[in-house]
Amino acid sequence: IGKNIYYFEEIDSTNDYGKIVAQKPFEDGDIIIAESQNKGRGRFSREWVSPMRKGAYLSILLKPQISFEKITRLTIITALAVCSALEDHIQKKVEIKWPNDILINQKKICGILTEISGEVDKINYVVIGIGININLDIEDFDESLATKASSLKIETGKIQNRKEIVQKILSIFDEYYDDFLNDENYESIIDEYRKKSYLIGRNVEVRIYNNDSIRARVLDIEKNGALKVELENGEIRDLLSGEVTLSTS
Ligand code: BTN
Repeated sequence: IGKNIYYFEEIDSTNDYGKIVAQKPFEDGDIIIAESQNKGRGRFSREWVSPMRKGAYLSILLKPQISFEKITRLTIITALAVCSALEDHIQKKVEIKWPNDILINQKKICGILTEISGEVDKINYVVIGIGININLDIEDFDESLATKASSLKIETGKIQNRKEIVQKILSIFDEYYDDFLNDENYESIIDEYRKKSYLIGRNVEVRIYNNDSIRARVLDIEKNGALKVELENGEIRDLLSGEVTLSTS
């Protein structure tokens, strides 16, 4: 990981730049990193607030020779790498909200945006974008985010070293990615992910991609990365993607 690093003071979005890099030959694990983004993107076409030198905004460009169904594993190892690195760095409990939000004190600190180009049996490239709210202040967040999002600085009361955090994440990701490519240790990786999973045992509302919403209780994370839930009518379902919010009742 990190044979080539593309570094910018400001960019539209590191994920978008990753897609440009991917148009020419590139190394597996090239990194795009920026001090700020003016069009940072989140999942579901949301904006990702990316103020100058306050967060970490980076993308990892990969070209693994794998089938589509294994892509979920990439998201799992990324979430785990971020979670472990942060936990190590700030000595606080860090949790993963399936599939790939990272929470501290139930607030979102980091989001991951995985984008894929290719066909089912032939992947051209994968861009994994990681955005971490490191030294953001409350004022940096929109009012609508104030109750849901936070930063390491807000949660620890201290300015955190952005470079150290990014380096730690990349070195842990590097190890997991090796295992991923060699098909090794997956059982223990998914176990680790389960242990850090915020949702297991909770009641949730799941928004599926067509905007339908279902209420359910989370039973487990399956081996393939799916969220195993029990619906109100007792039916058990595996959810492969979607957005989960906690039920208020
Ligand atoms: C989410 O939680 O919705 C995903 C957020 C992903 C944000 C990162 S910041 C670096 C990369 N570039 C982007 O435009 N988005 C991702």
